[in-house]
Amino acid sequence: MSPGVRHFERPQSIHGFDSAMGSGIIGIPRDGNLGKLNAERQHLPIFSARSALLEQIEKNDNVIVVAETGSGKTTQIPQYILESKLNKRLRIGVTQPRRVAAISVAERVAQEKSCEVGQLVGYSVRFQEKVCPATKIKYMTDGMLVREAILDKMLKAYSFIILDEVHERSLHTDIVMGIVYRAQQLRKCDGVAGPLKTVTMSATMDAEAFSNFWNGAPMLYVQGREHPVDYLFSAQKVNDYVLGCLSTCIQLHKECPLPEGILIFLTGQEEIEEAVASLRNAMKESNNNLKPAVVSPLYAALPDHMQREALKPAPPGKRKIVVATNVAEASLTIAGIKHVIDSGCAKIKEFEPRTGLETLAVRKISRAQCEQRAGRAGRLGPGSCRVMLTREEWTSQPALPEPELLRCNLAGVTLQLLAAEVPSLVSFRLVNAPPRAAVRSALRQLWLLDAVLLDDLRRCHGATLTPLGYHMSRFPLDPRFSKLLCDAAKQGCSADVITIVSLLSAEQLFTSRRINSGANGGGSANDDGDAVAARRAKFESVHGDLPTYLRVFGHYRSVLKNCKKNAFGNASSSPQHFCDEHGLSYRALSYAWEVRLQLRQLAESNDLWNNTNNGNEERLSQVLSEALFMNCAERQVDGSYAVVGTGETVRIHPSSVLFRRNPDCVLFVELVETSSKYMRHVTRIDRQLVEPKLSRIRQVIQATISSKRQQQPA
Ligand code: CDP
Ligand code: MG
Repeated sequence: MSPGVRHFERPQSIHGFDSAMGSGIIGIPRDGNLGKLNAERQHLPIFSARSALLEQIEKNDNVIVVAETGSGKTTQIPQYILESKLNKRLRIGVTQPRRVAAISVAERVAQEKSCEVGQLVGYSVRFQEKVCPATKIKYMTDGMLVREAILDKMLKAYSFIILDEVHERSLHTDIVMGIVYRAQQLRKCDGVAGPLKTVTMSATMDAEAFSNFWNGAPMLYVQGREHPVDYLFSAQKVNDYVLGCLSTCIQLHKECPLPEGILIFLTGQEEIEEAVASLRNAMKESNNNLKPAVVSPLYAALPDHMQREALKPAPPGKRKIVVATNVAEASLTIAGIKHVIDSGCAKIKEFEPRTGLETLAVRKISRAQCEQRAGRAGRLGPGSCRVMLTREEWTSQPALPEPELLRCNLAGVTLQLLAAEVPSLVSFRLVNAPPRAAVRSALRQLWLLDAVLLDDLRRCHGATLTPLGYHMSRFPLDPRFSKLLCDAAKQGCSADVITIVSLLSAEQLFTSRRINSGANGGGSANDDGDAVAARRAKFESVHGDLPTYLRVFGHYRSVLKNCKKNAFGNASSSPQHFCDEHGLSYRALSYAWEVRLQLRQLAESNDLWNNTNNGNEERLSQVLSEALFMNCAERQVDGSYAVVGTGETVRIHPSSVLFRRNPDCVLFVELVETSSKYMRHVTRIDRQLVEPKLSRIRQVIQATISSKRQQQPA
């Protein structure tokens, strides 16, 4: 590592708020803890800007607030509005890009307001809601607000919408800005619903674009009180960033005094679980030569209570080490972090409109994201950030993240927007216009799924939702999965399909070999990967991954049932033990269990729950082929596969039960890119089943080619 380079530049103050302009006491402390919280509130950088902020919000319909993470934007601004004379009757909605942030921030603000979550302060995230008629501040994921707009496009329940973390440029944040803009305009014309005001909040990046979006809204820059962070680049190119992060972590753990917390940024669940297991192993094998530490994973597909675990302070006398995805990049407050180790990478979605295929790939992140990550180390006092990139690599990265809207599959949001009566993404007001090819590709995918009718397939004109499309829009899922659930109800296999969809949302069901034999609480040291793999093999279905997942879940469910019946049973019959024995991720299964319950409720309330044919593999194949036929691939003579229709070369992922079994024709759920493009969650399929759909795929390809030709200049 090179010596520390101090590196943080602060943007120019647009509206400086350096002097104290606070407006005095907030609430009356009722107990000691509340008094402490109030004192903390008054020490946040945003507090000095309170009255100036409220004045601007009163004068303007739209205001942009720019401040560094930790200034108090998310927790304080909604409370300032609530405590002021500005909010009389209605709700203040605060959007968040991530569910874990929405929940944890709502809990914090409820604490500050000395109420239970779900009373004055509540939240609404996918599959979970805690609000009541008295709720005045509602934190929600931006996807949830888009869904609310399906039922009420004027968003009449709200007098204020606070759009948070807009600088991340996540797809749903960009879309929700357009939705809120439309609601504001509609309410201006309506006159009855009263005005809708907005506050757009951003970390210190490119606020101009947001101001332009809101027709020149004033930008208020609040000076942060972040502590300096020493930025250390790698002296040489890092080939294996996971290894780099782990050895740096062990070194820091040896050198730094307790309890200075360490936060490591990696790219995904599998990597994180392996890293956590390796660190725990290292601690165990050191025979107390290493200081005590608690190592926690943190990623989106982790059950809520385990995510919260990672946010808590470490027990006294121990160091806290958190290994996270970019879930922890902003918005979350993780107690006690002093050092950040940044892989410099993230897993991102990339979409190719020509093929209609979306790929997950690990890519280097922008400098702004690196700075956000580094900023997590400067919350308590001076901190450090070690990044697995050389200074030259870092400098050559783009300054800002590319908006997700410009590089992902738009089928899901197009479906939601059509249901919310937005006829076209092209004429919809957005910070950046989405690529036309991606807009058309989304409509054609929805047409293939029978979710929309199109007057003109080539130009993608005149899209209208079909009744199926409307049903599909009720589910907060990828349209292919929504279609799966709708078709399953028709075919009588709702329970099977909901199980599959829930397990797919949990990402990694099988733990890898290293974890099986490692410190994940798994089998004993000698009882290594092979034995676990052999036990796991009994679940494997020659038909592929999805039927295998069903079998796993069936066994898991009976273990849970037995465990409940036998409340005094020993640990060896516990669900956790079952998972360890069979190399299954207990976390993934309990997450899927939660999702399944919610999805089932949603299906039942929409009359889409029918189980007359569960366990019928033929029906299941039929349903899968109806929704996933766009992801069908055939084996080639060289053993690789070609995606039917587009001809894209892909391979079966080594984690699949069909790896080396190489059936003639398969359906896959997603593509991941490493050395090649790999299909994940693969199921054997009879080519005959997808045959009737192929002529439609060909029609779409023809339409794509001819509309592309039309666009090219002569
Ligand atoms: O939104 P912004 O990053 O500007 O700050 P915030 O999320 O409102 O957090 C302000 C401060 O509240 C943090 O620096 C923490 O001290 C505290 N906080 C906390 O302790 N626990 C939470 N769950 C959220 C915030
Ligand atoms: Mg925030």
